[in-house]
Amino acid sequence: MANQRTLSIIKPDAVAKNVIGEIESRFEKGGLKIVAAKMLQLSEEKAGGFYAEHKERPFFKDLVGFMTSGPVIVQVLEGEDAIARNRDLMGATNPKDAAPGTIRADFAETIDANAVHGSDSPESAEREIAYFFGADEICPRG
Ligand code: TYD
Ligand code: MG
Repeated sequence: MANQRTLSIIKPDAVAKNVIGEIESRFEKGGLKIVAAKMLQLSEEKAGGFYAEHKERPFFKDLVGFMTSGPVIVQVLEGEDAIARNRDLMGATNPKDAAPGTIRADFAETIDANAVHGSDSPESAEREIAYFFGADEICPRG
């Protein structure tokens, strides 16, 4: 698998728990490099647009409410097979189903506040990276 980039978010629950560093460490130890990062307070519009694919789902309103409840870290992770690798490090969407040792198993309790986001395909990675970062904000690290 070639070198890839993926969009990662450390969600408001994890920022509030002060485990940003511990989560970043999982990515670094898992073979991913941070090539762009910023802390943001998302607006309803920005969070809703990010999760537009879920607009008709019953949890959408709560999801936007949660994602705007406090600051997040948005970042681009780079590495071999980065999209799947990040999803593996994150664990299942519902922390109750997440494998031991994954970020969601270790830092989240509920499906609606599950610590991290990761792009789920090359197409979503491309859209999600461009949603938050200009090309001049991403620093390839080789
Ligand atoms: P989804 O894209 O299905 O999960 P993932 O984050 O693993 O890609 O859903 C996006 C987010 O929506 C998910 O991280 C948490 C929230 N969500 C709920 O609150 N309830 C649900 O039943 C689902 C499926 C998701
Ligand atoms: Mg998803």
